[in-house]
Amino acid sequence: MTPEQARDKIDQLRKGLQQHNYNYYIKSEPTISDFEYDLMINELQALEKKHPQFDNENSPTRRIGSDLNREFESFLHRYPMLSLGNTYSREELSDFDQRVIKGIGAQVNYFCELKYDGVAVALTYKDGALDRALTRGDGTRGDDVTRNIRTIRSIPLQLQGSGYPAEFEIRGEVIFPTEEFARMNSERETNGEPAFANPRNAASGTLKMQNSSQVAMRPLDCLFYYIPGEQLLFQTQHESLKCAQDWGFKVPSYNRLVGSMEEVFEFIDRWEAERDQLPFDIDGVVIKVDSIHLQKQLGFTAKNPRWAISYKFRAEQALSRLNSIDFQVGRTGAVTPVANLDQVQLAGTTVKRASLHNADQIALLDIRRGDFVYVEKGGEIIPKIVGVAKEKRDPSSTPFQFITHCPECNTPLVRQEDEAAHYCPNVIGCPPQIKGRIEHFIGRKCMDINAAEATIDQLFREELVKNVADLYSLDYDAIVKLDRFAKKSAQNLIESIEASKQIPFPRVLFALGIRFVGETVAKKLAEAFLSLERLMEADIQDLEEVDEIGERIAESVISYFQDVRNQIMIRQLREHGLQFEMEPRPEKLSEKLIGKSFVISGIFENYSRDELKALIDQNGGKNSGSISKKTDYIVAGSNMGPSKYQKAQKLNIPILSEEEFLSMLS
Ligand code: IVH
Repeated sequence: MTPEQARDKIDQLRKGLQQHNYNYYIKSEPTISDFEYDLMINELQALEKKHPQFDNENSPTRRIGSDLNREFESFLHRYPMLSLGNTYSREELSDFDQRVIKGIGAQVNYFCELKYDGVAVALTYKDGALDRALTRGDGTRGDDVTRNIRTIRSIPLQLQGSGYPAEFEIRGEVIFPTEEFARMNSERETNGEPAFANPRNAASGTLKMQNSSQVAMRPLDCLFYYIPGEQLLFQTQHESLKCAQDWGFKVPSYNRLVGSMEEVFEFIDRWEAERDQLPFDIDGVVIKVDSIHLQKQLGFTAKNPRWAISYKFRAEQALSRLNSIDFQVGRTGAVTPVANLDQVQLAGTTVKRASLHNADQIALLDIRRGDFVYVEKGGEIIPKIVGVAKEKRDPSSTPFQFITHCPECNTPLVRQEDEAAHYCPNVIGCPPQIKGRIEHFIGRKCMDINAAEATIDQLFREELVKNVADLYSLDYDAIVKLDRFAKKSAQNLIESIEASKQIPFPRVLFALGIRFVGETVAKKLAEAFLSLERLMEADIQDLEEVDEIGERIAESVISYFQDVRNQIMIRQLREHGLQFEMEPRPEKLSEKLIGKSFVISGIFENYSRDELKALIDQNGGKNSGSISKKTDYIVAGSNMGPSKYQKAQKLNIPILSEEEFLSMLS
């Protein structure tokens, strides 16, 4: 094949595959079998490999993702990503309508859409090709997730049709379809991996994965709803979405154009009742003024568009029978009651278990065995019990008695006066506490050692690991002999343990799992004492001098280090070479801004708002969130809010540009 012939064939295959993707993912009407599709992809892959000069990052083969790992870079949004004002009440929706009518001077058409519950992304297309995808971030800057976005098959890498602007942005919601979510979670549970709380978390977790080939294996989808811009590209919202659809974007067909609030309420009623039947989660509906001309006329407040609002659905509830209560023991020894229920459908998933929090909660709601209880889904993995249908109660039932002994090791439980939870005090001997500590220690935010819960369980059962220090004495020969381990996985585990010796001190301190010492407290303590040795020598006063450390934390730290068993374990960890020290944070850069109070507003060219704040801090200045008489300077980027501007003028406060501010420091 000559290079010209190869190029023609590559072109032909790419176009064909693009069409098949569209048929499959957007129209849901595939015209070829998966097998034929794979043959085409394979052929294209082979040709691209042989003729790299025709490589193109928007080729359908790129959907497979790459193995390269990298951190996300962040970029400024061209249009800040604002959120929508929201309400749970119909009166407030009518108030919204009245405000619109007042602003326009007439009734308007509304475009009703579903509020997709996923992760917002802003995609930029240049000459019809996907150029960049940013997450919402802080609204001003977002993370560049283009590589991951490219793996989502329903997102066009190359637009079809015509009439799209040379460069434009389009917003959509990346979602994890409900059915696939349930399937993935049950697989994760079988593999001993942590389940995702809900499809939204799964979508956002997936989008933030570093390895795009893993993202490619997850069935993410993206639904589009908004094309921001200054010029009037379209007359109406519904027309803009029609165009988006023609260009190849997935725009769900549930949207509806209406002329009155009655119809808006009908739309709400319908989807509140039928949301379970959708293949994805929604958390409400969005009402938008349809005319883009009128949208511009209404404009934005500092935070939201005035031309749109979201109506959020209340959490769904279900009624079910409580059959029994289990007690789980966590790593801190805290005992959590969990209810076993008759299976019931709730918000599209099957529910069998629900959280009961603690003894007080059970007493407060007077929850008894055999009761019919109301369950509700919050953001957590398992739903919670929010009430009892007392009228359905068996009159002979008796109040529930909390257990008195640990279900795992039979030690009498204790309860501190000011705490809600019961604890098993057998810290050293109670198996779930030991395993829990090891699992916490190896966690991603701690030592980041790559081992599943099932692996820890196995190492514990085989008595190879009885505390976290034992991890560092594991050797390859001992592991490779174990069930479920192969050469490669044993090697990976050893390497991952070895690599954890480089984890910086604040994370090591967090990993120790000292009660009340979370990620932030660990960081504060590490920065204040700079070494574990000095921290161990600190007394209550020394500890309480640290920002945000009170008596409760200080006492917990002292008692942890007083325990000889912990001292021995720490000595072992030290011998294995873990990081028990750190360098002090950089000193102040200067005192140039001492005594000066700054307010930062708007979007900047070279620095993020946080970076500017850090600069102010490092040079002795003070940051403040709002303008007052005490404000000395305002550092303003583009898009400074008009009300801030007026206030600054009124108080006669100098407004500095980014450059002017930077020149104060030089
Ligand atoms: S319109 C300028 N339409 O809700 C307003 N947003 O609170 C642009 N969302 O960040 C947003 N479905 O993540 C719009 N049909 C829809 C939506 C939607 C979900 C999300 C989106 C946005 C948030 C706003």
